Amino acid sequence: MIARGILDTIGDTPLVRLERLFPELDAQVFAKAEWFNPGGSVKDRAALSMLLGKIESGELAPDRSVVVESSSGNLAIGIAQICRYYRLPFVCVVDPRTTEQNVAILRAFRAHVEIVTEPDDRTGEYLPARIRRVKEIVGNLPGAYWPNQYANPLNAKAHERTMHEIATALDGRVDYLFCATSSCGTLHGCVTYVREHGLSTTIVAVDAMGSAIFDGDSSSSRLIPGYGASVRPALLEPEDADGVVHVSDLECVVACHRLMWQEAILAGGSSGATVAALQRMSDRIPAGANCVCVFPDGGDRYLDTIYSASWVRRNFGDAEHELFPPDELEGGVRDHHSP
Ligand SMILES: Cc1ncc(COP(=O)(O)O)c(C=O)c1O
Repeated sequence: MIARGILDTIGDTPLVRLERLFPELDAQVFAKAEWFNPGGSVKDRAALSMLLGKIESGELAPDRSVVVESSSGNLAIGIAQICRYYRLPFVCVVDPRTTEQNVAILRAFRAHVEIVTEPDDRTGEYLPARIRRVKEIVGNLPGAYWPNQYANPLNAKAHERTMHEIATALDGRVDYLFCATSSCGTLHGCVTYVREHGLSTTIVAVDAMGSAIFDGDSSSSRLIPGYGASVRPALLEPEDADGVVHVSDLECVVACHRLMWQEAILAGGSSGATVAALQRMSDRIPAGANCVCVFPDGGDRYLDTIYSASWVRRNFGDAEHELFPPDELEGGVRDHHSP
């Protein structure tokens, strides 16, 4: 296929069979490898969905519009790429926890990055402070458009196609779908497709321990960005999920390393979380089931955290020795087995 420009390569990501991860499980496990999108994540789909209609209708145009969004990660990168493609200015409001790498990518696409330096007085969280700043900018800047991923139905709409791709690849037999959640766009879009097409898929929402999305205990801090949220998103319909699994930071990190050792997949944190959730439910999965984990992004955005020995040591102490066994070159090359 010859793509008509880079944005034409969003979607149609591979569905990859994971044959080694759960040898004891009499079921097929697949990963929907969303880092194959050109901006590196599942959020390219949402970004395109929220912008394209307005671009095509002429409502957004380079000479009179500015896109403004609060996102510190994948959505921001997706929007930055689309805005560059269509020559739209983009103001991205981030906070000091945004990784240097993400800020560098945003600046490489010539997004204007504005860093909110103080958290919200009342909650101590950065998100409300970022949203306040977005509203200020939008209020003062003629032609400003705020996609607002947390409440925009077009975010969820994008993922009806994600589920269509999964269902088509498996001839409609998707028994379990494990979906990490933040804005809940992926979850809601996939569920909408499942319902509209009468699929008998059990939908498992995967949330971070410490997140406020599904009645979790939101008092503890979370280390892994991408999934989980400090407020419940407007897109969430509580009946969307047949089950919810809350995954701890350590479980998530261990699962990412298992994916790397066993499948040679360098996955992002929330991908590992879906694997940890599947593991937790494995004794309930019937023989022959098709289980799909949506893998939202790749591990290259987590080299300083999940895949860094010093970060693992700082946050999880002894787990470092299990996840980073001694160098295989010490004493000659040995056959490595996964932790
Ligand atoms: C890495 C990662 N995982 C999971 C999600 C959750 O996706 P959604 O916002 O559709 O719930 C996101 C969203 O930004 C993400 O970046």
